[in-house]
Amino acid sequence: MLPFYGRRLSRKTKRFNSFDLESHEFFFNEMNFSDAKKKLVNGFKNINLEIGFGKGENLIFQSQIKKKDIFLAIDPFISGGLELKKNIEIFKISNIFFSNVTFSQFFEIAGGVNFKKIFILFPDPWPKKKHKKRRLINEEFVKNLNKITLKHSEILIATDDEDYSNQILKSFSKLNLFKLLLKTSDNQIFEDYKIYPTKYFRKAKKENRRINLFIYKK
Ligand SMILES: C[S@@+](CC[C@H](N)C(=O)[O-])C[C@H]1O[C@@H](n2cnc3c(N)ncnc32)[C@H](O)[C@@H]1O
Repeated sequence: MLPFYGRRLSRKTKRFNSFDLESHEFFFNEMNFSDAKKKLVNGFKNINLEIGFGKGENLIFQSQIKKKDIFLAIDPFISGGLELKKNIEIFKISNIFFSNVTFSQFFEIAGGVNFKKIFILFPDPWPKKKHKKRRLINEEFVKNLNKITLKHSEILIATDDEDYSNQILKSFSKLNLFKLLLKTSDNQIFEDYKIYPTKYFRKAKKENRRINLFIYKK
């Protein structure tokens, strides 16, 4: 299981009571997910997933353009979860379920759910050679994605790290479980595919880094 090496709280989060998150009606964890899962699988045709939702910007956006879909979202970054929770309340959103579990923890409990779309926007790049093992997307990850998707499911990945882009391409092409539908660095495609320009998209653009978008289809 890949441990989590990132940050759980931002410097801005001064005080945090775990009850704030855990008591929320749309928050799930490893303990209560099986009940929620039954309702999801029986009640909704399209279930989507965002891995590493950050502050939840893309998630809020997706939930509004696809109001009949359900969005599951995971990120151990608690400050982001608190921000997402606030926006779920402000915009009275009822089609997002979120958690602070890592992907590995989620994978252990996700059996039986198949996702239509999986968003992975700007996964942590871990650019130092000695840290590359910490990257989320590798062959094992692609095998796991295969187990929680069906024919025609789509995986949308964006990164501004060239070395990670190559690792993503290699991991998917070696296994041949998903077809590469699109590989582009044309930022206009974000708009065309209705993907929100998140904090990390804006940062990469401001710093003139090339952003690669990959869309894989099963
Ligand atoms: C660079 S940020 C990108 C956030 C957001 N997607 C965006 O585009 O602004 C990467 C996010 O992935 C989350 N993350 C890292 N490892 C993860 C894992 N194993 N499972 C789920 N989320 C993870 C981090 O906590 C962080 O919020």
